[in-house]
Amino acid sequence: MRVVLLGPPGVGKGTQGRRLAAERGWALISTGEMLREAAARRTPLGLEAQRRMDRGLLVPDDVMIELVRGRLGQPDAARGFVLDGFPRTVPQAEALERMLAERGKPLDAVVCLAIPEMRLVHRLTARRECPVCKRAYNLESAPPRDGRHCDDHPTVELVQRADDAEETVRRRLEVYRELTGPTVEHFRARGRLTEVDADGTPDDVHRRLAGALGGRASVRSG
Ligand code: AP5
Repeated sequence: MRVVLLGPPGVGKGTQGRRLAAERGWALISTGEMLREAAARRTPLGLEAQRRMDRGLLVPDDVMIELVRGRLGQPDAARGFVLDGFPRTVPQAEALERMLAERGKPLDAVVCLAIPEMRLVHRLTARRECPVCKRAYNLESAPPRDGRHCDDHPTVELVQRADDAEETVRRRLEVYRELTGPTVEHFRARGRLTEVDADGTPDDVHRRLAGALGGRASVRSG
């Protein structure tokens, strides 16, 4: 299946996308992760993206569209994928639909994870992640076993993302409302959107998400 996960910063796209991709053998395509990796390698694209990410702003559409076009062409994406963080604007949504139509492999599902906004700031400022495997923890809702290190990499200390500072989180939420809200409406207007309640434990949300995708998977798999 080819699945898009939409939803505001901190709603759980990465947490759910990682689990879904691992369970079903799909590629996880996280555009935020791709940009952070490019920034860590200090490529020109990565350094420019870092400047924008640190301010809570989006990276320009043309850059993102080319990045995703390249990634979708890689062999693992042919088995199915979960897109986390793309599309985030209407031009990105239209470009994605064109790209997939050219390959004759349209999207199977567009799922928007939803939660009251007041909960998100809290979730994001308490997020920590493993710099090695990128697993997300939460100091309140999902702490690591010893409180500091990754459960799967016991010598690796968890870190906070630079854009999880409270002021930047609030800016990211504004940008989401302004630019990604219309993207959600774009899919809703075409009857393509499935909304999943993202309140509850990660297991609860996973069950709802799997349920929402299950029916579709049996209709058109692969
Ligand atoms: P990106 O990395 O995509 O960030 P985001 O969309 O803001 O989403 P997050 O990763 O912050 O949150 P999430 O929904 O994945 O939640 P998570 O599972 O981690 O993008 C970063 C930046 O890159 C953007 O700001 C932009 O600059 C740029 N960018 C990326 N894509 C772009 C594009 N297409 N166009 C332009 N620019 C782009 O969970 C959050 C926390 O909550 C964690 O601590 C987790 O443990 C916890 N948690 C998860 N689920 C639950 C639960 N059910 N209950 C309690 N806690 C939970």
